[in-house]
Amino acid sequence: MTYRLTIRRPDDWHVHLRDGDMLHAVAPYTARQFARAIIMPNLAPPVTSVAAATAYRERIRAALPAGSDFTPLMTCYLTDTADAAEIARGHAEGVWAACKLYPANATTNSAHGVSDIRALGRVLEMLQRIGMPLLIHGEVTDPEIDFFDREAVFIERTLGGLVRDFPALKIVLEHITTAEAVDFVNGAGANVAATITPQHLHLNRNALFAGGLQPHAFCLPVVKRERHRLAVRTAAVSGSPRFFLGTDTAPHVRGRKEMACGCAGIFNAPFALESYLAVFDAEDALDRFEGFASEHGARFYGLPLNEGTVTLERRDVLVPALCGVGDTAVVPFHAGQTLAWQMVG
Ligand code: DOR
Ligand code: ZN
Repeated sequence: MTYRLTIRRPDDWHVHLRDGDMLHAVAPYTARQFARAIIMPNLAPPVTSVAAATAYRERIRAALPAGSDFTPLMTCYLTDTADAAEIARGHAEGVWAACKLYPANATTNSAHGVSDIRALGRVLEMLQRIGMPLLIHGEVTDPEIDFFDREAVFIERTLGGLVRDFPALKIVLEHITTAEAVDFVNGAGANVAATITPQHLHLNRNALFAGGLQPHAFCLPVVKRERHRLAVRTAAVSGSPRFFLGTDTAPHVRGRKEMACGCAGIFNAPFALESYLAVFDAEDALDRFEGFASEHGARFYGLPLNEGTVTLERRDVLVPALCGVGDTAVVPFHAGQTLAWQMVG
């Protein structure tokens, strides 16, 4: 039995840090566990210009605990009018690490997202040419499509064609939830990868209804049936460099979750490593955790691996019912549960 695990410092390749008071409340959790994170641009208004991204990066730095060396990696929110020259400039200036594609109205603050990806040809050509990754929220929004099929239909209708038309474009299919997504990534080239969240490793769709409607299990893409969870788990622990850690931590205050028309998003930042490690432990894959958490993502993005380490110990930790106080209190993932590993340094 392994009691202590020390790995290279990990990165989180998909994070919502929000802004204002919430940013100050949640940034320390991510900065405590991760050296770097890809910061989602779905603020209101969205982060579409180099100037807005630079200013947001400064606000993030100001929200970090004193002495933190956490590096926020910024992303550009793509709209129908995205300007290839502005994006290339932001990348050349070291502001933007990637572009984020939200299909219009797919999720939180995506009303300004892309209505027709084929209209973005010039931007996509430029991304392919300069090797800047395109991060995709892979869901269709067609109301005719069953909600649980949104990801699979996006892959069939949109992603296949995109990869064919831009064969060298670096693509990260974000927060994958289905066997179809796993198969797509495994069948594509080395330029196509995926992030995996803790919730899609732990939960299937029964979690949405267990004992009553469960708003804290609701995120987008929504959790799927058990066979999909098992496929995503197999991918995560497979050791394939094409699958890596991206929590999609997405805090909403408690009242905005526990309401009619509650918000999508699971706040998993406080115990993210512990949550993933429970899965790798159960799958007898502790030796694969470092690759997933600390190596595959950096290599895909073409960034150096982090120096330094983090250590986790096998010891029970009780996840609190609420993190933070007052206006920014958020119910964390695994609230009230005991996890078997704890980060100790
Ligand atoms: O559950 C989610 N919450 N999925 C997303 O795509 C966005 C996120 C948010 O920003 O709240
Ligand atoms: Zn997200």
